[in-house]
Amino acid sequence: MTFTAPRGTQDILPTEVLYWEYIEQVTAAVFSQFNFQEIRTPIFESTELFTRSIGTDTDIVEKEMYTFLDKKGRSMTLRPEGTASVVRAYLEHNLGAAQDVQKLWYQGPMFRYERPQAGRYRQFHQMGGEVLGTKSPIADAELIQLTIRIFQKLGLHDLEVSVNSVGCQVCRPVIREKLKSFFGDNLPHLCEDCQRRFKNNPLRILDCKNKKCKHYLMGLPSMTTTLCHECQDHFQGVLNALDIMSVRYKHNPGLVRGLDYYTKTVFEVTSKHLGAQDAVCGGGRYDRLVKLLGGPEVPAVGFAFGMERTVMVLKEQKVEIPALGGKKVYCAALGHAAREKLLSLVKDLRDAGIQAEMEYDDRGLKAQMKRADRFGAVQVVICGDDEVARKAVQIKDMRTGEQIEVPWAEVVQKLIS
Ligand code: HAM
Repeated sequence: MTFTAPRGTQDILPTEVLYWEYIEQVTAAVFSQFNFQEIRTPIFESTELFTRSIGTDTDIVEKEMYTFLDKKGRSMTLRPEGTASVVRAYLEHNLGAAQDVQKLWYQGPMFRYERPQAGRYRQFHQMGGEVLGTKSPIADAELIQLTIRIFQKLGLHDLEVSVNSVGCQVCRPVIREKLKSFFGDNLPHLCEDCQRRFKNNPLRILDCKNKKCKHYLMGLPSMTTTLCHECQDHFQGVLNALDIMSVRYKHNPGLVRGLDYYTKTVFEVTSKHLGAQDAVCGGGRYDRLVKLLGGPEVPAVGFAFGMERTVMVLKEQKVEIPALGGKKVYCAALGHAAREKLLSLVKDLRDAGIQAEMEYDDRGLKAQMKRADRFGAVQVVICGDDEVARKAVQIKDMRTGEQIEVPWAEVVQKLIS
């Protein structure tokens, strides 16, 4: 019997990991510039945390959660996203008491039982940030700027930012009625799910993945004019701040997002290189979630981007991944005595912070030079019986081909400089 990775999951092999490390390092540095601190939460949580946060009418809760009973019969779910867990941790550890505004970032695997296709997996990975404790539109705009900064730093440029406002509990009922009268005549043509959504939450129809339903979105009335004064002012404040920060965006009045906790601002970053699953990043404001999970009124805004989709865009745009880590030195030994000498030299080089590698087995110089090349060595230390007798090694520079003899006592210093 042979085993394969479960459908919708993938192994990230060493050549791929280079992309992942690159994204993780660049993103962590940008988060730090914006004064975010990292938080790590469990991979599973009680099911109710997600049903309450994400909303019972959403695709995620209706169809996509990995839910199981633990040995004591409690319902647990593998996290389908990170926001609910961050809010739970924020409340559980009373993080709001330490600082009015908390800026937290996270990364890790998320799980959704979706139909796998390019860019859509059942285990996928996100990096995301949440700002808790401010209702200022500047926070929303700054977060959008932060996502753009991450993608620019990664070397990605032709991404599009779409923004919209989905209103609050004051204007949402009016938006719902407006949508109901828009969809009313076409209701029999919508899919079964949307017919149900029409009754419970017509905003969800805008997020339906069914092609037929998407067709009936043509001529959708703008929701912006239906927003209450506070939401209109807030949305104008976000757009104004984006203009001041020179962030380019498109107002997409049909953008609603697939989770129910959003209020006011929602946004998405898309790439034309991704095909059907074109959203690299999504986020928005969720001013009622902290209260919904049993806390005080704490306004908040956040976003998350998908690692797999970001890797796909990096490859599509042929972005060169800069080599991470320090200088690489390969040690080629010819004979037993030389190998013993190089064993201690490799240790000294690693102690000095150099990435060093040596051959374990007896191999000719040609085979070892090939390995050095594959390793990406900048310099190769060569040592045979003659060098052992002279208490020296040869150092070959792989870029210039130049080779010099260096006494043992000076090798580490020579390779560091
Ligand atoms: P989301 O839009 O569901 O938002 O996911 C964010 C990103 O995760 C997507 O833009 C996409 O790149 C990636 N993603 C989602 N599902 C999959 C999948 N099945 N396979 C591969 N990649 C996927 C959220 O999760 C919110 N928690 C974002 C947020 C944070 N809003 C406020 N704070």
